[in-house]
Amino acid sequence: MKTAIYPGSFDPVTNGHLDIIQRASTMFDKLIVVVLINPLKTYSFSIPERVDLLSRVTAGLGNVEIDSYDGLLADYFKQHDVDVIVKGLRATSDFEYEFQMAHTNKDLNPRAETVFIPATANTTFISSSMVKQVAMFGGNLSKYVPSIIHEDISRKLKREFERKREEAAKKRGLDD
Ligand code: PNS
Repeated sequence: MKTAIYPGSFDPVTNGHLDIIQRASTMFDKLIVVVLINPLKTYSFSIPERVDLLSRVTAGLGNVEIDSYDGLLADYFKQHDVDVIVKGLRATSDFEYEFQMAHTNKDLNPRAETVFIPATANTTFISSSMVKQVAMFGGNLSKYVPSIIHEDISRKLKREFERKREEAAKKRGLDD
C-alpha cells in the first residue's frame, strides 16, 4: 500500500489545491493532506478552520484524510507510515523554492522523497493569497475555490479586512 502526503498552508484551500488532491488520490492508495505551518508567514485562517475547509471539499474522496502538524514535515514523515511527499507546481517561479524544500526535507529525513505534479493549465494562476485579495474586496470567488466554501471564505476575509481597515484608521489617528 502506497501512502502519500500533500503538505501545505492551505490558507485557504483553492481549486488549484483540489486539482492536485484529486489527481494524487488516483495515484496512491491513501493521500494525507497535512496542514503545516510556515513560521515566516502570517495566516488568515486558524489551523482548525483550514482543516475544516479541507475536510468539506474532500468529503467525496474516500482515500483522502486531512491532518495538521505543528513541526517539521520531515518529522511528520518519520512518525507516520508515509512513502512520498506530493507537491504541486504551478509555474517555473514555484520551482526554486519547492526544489529547496524537497532537498531540505530529504536532508532532514533521507526517506522523504518528493514528487511534483504540474498544475492543470486553468489553475496555474490561482493562489491562496490571490483568493484572499479577491475575497477581501468582495469579488467573485466562484472560479477559484470550491462552491461549498465560498460563503465561509468571503465572510471571514471581509471581516478580517474591515478589522485591518479600522486598525489602520486608528493608527493614522494616533499618528496625527
Ligand atoms: O503552502 P505553502 O505555504 O507553500 O506550504 C509550505 C509548508 C507549510 C508546507 C512548509 O513551510 C512546511 O513544510 N512547513 C513545516 C516546517 C518544515 O518542515 N519546513 C521545511 C523545511 S525548511
